[in-house]
Amino acid sequence: MNLQPDISPVPAGAPARAGARRECAIVARGLKKTYAATKKSPAKEALKGIDLEIPRGSIFGLLGPNGAGKSTFINILAGLVNKTEGSVSVWGFDIDRNPRQARASIGVVPQEINVDVFFTPKEALEIQAGLFGVPKAERRTMEILRTLGLEDKADAYVRMLSGGMKRRLLVAKAMVHAPPILVLDEPTAGVDIELRRQLWDHVLELHESGVTIVLTTHYLEEAQELCDRIAIIHNGDVVACEPTDKLIASLDRKTLMVTPLAPPAAAPDLAPFEAELKPDGRLAIPYRPSKAQVAEILERLSAAGVRVRDLSTVEADLEDVFLELTYNSGR
Ligand SMILES: Nc1ncnc2c1ncn2[C@@H]1O[C@H](COP(=O)(O)OP(=O)(O)O)[C@@H](O)[C@H]1O
Ligand SMILES: [Mg+2]
Repeated sequence: MNLQPDISPVPAGAPARAGARRECAIVARGLKKTYAATKKSPAKEALKGIDLEIPRGSIFGLLGPNGAGKSTFINILAGLVNKTEGSVSVWGFDIDRNPRQARASIGVVPQEINVDVFFTPKEALEIQAGLFGVPKAERRTMEILRTLGLEDKADAYVRMLSGGMKRRLLVAKAMVHAPPILVLDEPTAGVDIELRRQLWDHVLELHESGVTIVLTTHYLEEAQELCDRIAIIHNGDVVACEPTDKLIASLDRKTLMVTPLAPPAAAPDLAPFEAELKPDGRLAIPYRPSKAQVAEILERLSAAGVRVRDLSTVEADLEDVFLELTYNSGR
């Protein structure tokens, strides 16, 4: 599919700003959102002044528990929620000064499924293209449907589509104006593994054609597998934002797994290291790679009379990072 961001129909207007910002798909500075109080609930500060830079060309994950503020952020980008304070630029366009260009630069798949069941996928895309003012000659309805694996459903009743197909139709709708950025808000919440895989295959194809992808998820594994950068958002604050591998490495925590020649009756004393005896007879020995070397642990094992049959190391994963950041942050 030929969705070239560089020649995308972002209207000419305010040019992208010079310098680092030009490289960013999205920049947020001091972004705050407070939902006003109602009769039933007090005012809610959903975003507490976040700074975020999302590089062009990335698959960026916005990860956080329910209520963290992910959808609020996405909905501000989409122009569905008004921010309270701060600034946001989309593909170099400030959402206050150039709202039209900013909106033309982004395709948003909202968290709630909102497909109109009275139109066929083809009609739904044509209507959406009309809303975005895409001239008939420039419409790529069938091409988009093909990319999302919906070509043979072009003229089907939407109510006959499966849940997975409906989600893909939403992605297709978000892409009708060929935006350089595609934003997906919890696209796989409640979707089974098989359908998730399918959706990601299609989204990755869009990414390969040059589209910057931003997604929110509370599935750690999904973020770890797909995203090259991850921001962790918690209670309206960004508590981490780094390349995925760096985020995981920053934890400085690994575990040496040792299979002894003879299963020990109890965990040996390896002070200053601590060994845990697993039910399968292996020993799990956590260590900090920046402070200790595996060779030191092996010396202790040898001193304790443990002969090693096999060993491996296990890296910390995103779940550890996530827990450390969101549960130890005292918020
Ligand atoms: N329209 C709204 N009015 C009042 N409070 C809201 C509204 N939308 C979201 N909130 C509150 O703002 C916080 C962040 O919500 P949201 O952005 O939906 O988080 P997430 O998408 O990470 O689950 C939550 O406490 C939520 O209850
Ligand atoms: Mg949400």
